[in-house]
Amino acid sequence: MISRTTISRIFEAVRIEEVIGEFVTLRRSGKDMKAPCPFHNEKTPSFFVSPVKGIYKCFGCGKAGNAVTFLMEHEKYTFPEALKFLARKYNIAIEETIPTEEEKAKETESESIYLVNAYAQRFFTDNIFTTDEGKSIGLGYFRERGFTDETIKKFQLGYSQRSRNAFTETAQRAGYALDILRKAGLTRNDNDDFFHDRVIFPLHNVTGRVIAFAGRTMKASGSEPKYINSPETEIYNKSNTLYGIFFAKKAIATHDECYLVEGYTDVISLHQSGIENAVASSGTSLTVEQLRLVKRYSQNLTILYDGDPAGIKASLRGIDLALEEGLNIKVVVLPDGEDPDSFAQKTSASELRSFIKERTTDFIRYKARMLMDESGKDPAKKARIIKDIVLSVALIPEPITRTVYIKECSNIINIAEEILNYEIRKERENRYRQKISRQDDLNYIPEPASAPVAFQPVSPESTEQQEREVIRILLNYGHKIIRISPLEKGVRGIDPSAESGEPGEDIPVCRMIISGIREDGIEFRNPVLAEIFRLYCGEFDRGIIPEDTFFTSHQDIDICSASVELITSRYRLSDWETKFRITIPADEENLAETTMKALHALKEKIVKKMIIDFQEKLKNSTSGDEFQDLLVHDRKLQELKKHLSTRLGRVIIK
Ligand code: CTP
Ligand code: MN
Repeated sequence: MISRTTISRIFEAVRIEEVIGEFVTLRRSGKDMKAPCPFHNEKTPSFFVSPVKGIYKCFGCGKAGNAVTFLMEHEKYTFPEALKFLARKYNIAIEETIPTEEEKAKETESESIYLVNAYAQRFFTDNIFTTDEGKSIGLGYFRERGFTDETIKKFQLGYSQRSRNAFTETAQRAGYALDILRKAGLTRNDNDDFFHDRVIFPLHNVTGRVIAFAGRTMKASGSEPKYINSPETEIYNKSNTLYGIFFAKKAIATHDECYLVEGYTDVISLHQSGIENAVASSGTSLTVEQLRLVKRYSQNLTILYDGDPAGIKASLRGIDLALEEGLNIKVVVLPDGEDPDSFAQKTSASELRSFIKERTTDFIRYKARMLMDESGKDPAKKARIIKDIVLSVALIPEPITRTVYIKECSNIINIAEEILNYEIRKERENRYRQKISRQDDLNYIPEPASAPVAFQPVSPESTEQQEREVIRILLNYGHKIIRISPLEKGVRGIDPSAESGEPGEDIPVCRMIISGIREDGIEFRNPVLAEIFRLYCGEFDRGIIPEDTFFTSHQDIDICSASVELITSRYRLSDWETKFRITIPADEENLAETTMKALHALKEKIVKKMIIDFQEKLKNSTSGDEFQDLLVHDRKLQELKKHLSTRLGRVIIK
């Protein structure tokens, strides 16, 4: 374990703009820096980095965090990997502590799965080169397919024995616990190996660690699935994975182009032929996560298709997604009956290259031609094609690119440019309106396509909005001193007995909030907010008012991103202010009142919810006594609600 002191030293040394600046070109914007967001597709920059606070935040997709979480999200590092990266960058010696039993237990499950996967990979690869069975079956199979030993070693290919539990037994003897072997998906619940009698393809993440395995059966009959994959685990999500990305990323960046194929063997054979910028979607339809992985290295995606029209049609939906992500899509159709693997094995490397070069066609052009060929002269079919093409072109975010396509398509399908233009504009307006209506609510937080954002949109009954506001004030102004009037003394405000005639008092905002929450025994429903409050109280009770960096540099990624979100939410408001020329009074203007209102709003919401719950119970009450009790309780709640509402200056209608 990396010691706490080392972690603090790292956080002290880190300049967030230098870390993010390694991956993204940042431009100064006032005291912040900004750039187009590296986590989602956009042209106007809404990704902000605050050197002063040491945090980043994207106002488009909601991603937020500190230098460490940036590396975890952007480079897919684990927490210790990110720390080690920063320690190297800033020349900080890493001090490791011996983990306590408790820490050992807490040692993340993911790290154990990585370790057991690394062990399994070595086991399967050793099999292929050192055991008789592995040599004759596994190595024999790969050589038969034309893979050189060098290729086999590079991709760490392997073999799993016929025996039902050779791996599990050996791994256990080597000290790997059954529980982790199962969690990694390598051992079934009946303690048999997950893979046997299969050749093994390890799947690597971008940093080259093994996250899962695929196994191809050695049985000739079709009785078993040809390929099986490890079940999904803490570290393996099939739809986020691109096979070969670790081996291909450098070549994708240097050639500024990524070849996309379907299968594991396609990637391997292309690499062996010297085409190293190839990855596979592993037979599934493309996902946004996979596309974003590609986009880190290049905007140009070329899909290599088997010469099978059914397969091409099936993949069209995935390609629309890619267009929407702003990727430039091209296609290459291979000769009939060939897949990239078989074709690469048949041709020389230079023939393969020139074939690909000559046959590369722009996707939209290709789609328009393909659909045209299909429809012949049937006008109804043609109308459908126009609609289809319009949908694809409308997805392209870049207007100049769209214009070029409109011209081209108008030629191919023989329709006036103006008509296509009109249809595309209509389609884009539709899409825009749909998006806006989802964003109507000022509190709307756009849903990111992939990674977690601190907060998801909440239901109207939920108290989360109010909880968030209280914690927002706590984090931003906890240390500020306010004067509370005698009326608010005791902070409850809802308790008339607190309204004594004592003089005002100066207290920090956090005290007002903490006692206000504690006195009523309120518990935050949102687990992350509850944890932030708990941590804050822990410090407060030790006589310390924690700084916002205590939370924004917290090692729990949820706490970190939630606190960044809350600390920066004023940015969002000022954004709205300039856009719509509305003014929102600054919190500081009357901090005591802002705080009081936030506390009351939370309490009122809780009481409202209690009333609803009780009325539900009233409806369902069976005995008269129970009904009476509930009625009394309900009346009390109603009074409480009225009291709270008057204090909030609202009029109660019901
Ligand atoms: N696939 C899978 N499960 C299957 C079949 C296929 O996950 N039962 C995925 C694999 O990633 C495979 C890809 O789909 O690599 C393409 O399938 P296919 O073309 O059938 O396999 P090939 O890669 O051509 O495999 P091989 O040449 O070994 O037959
Ligand atoms: Mn094949």
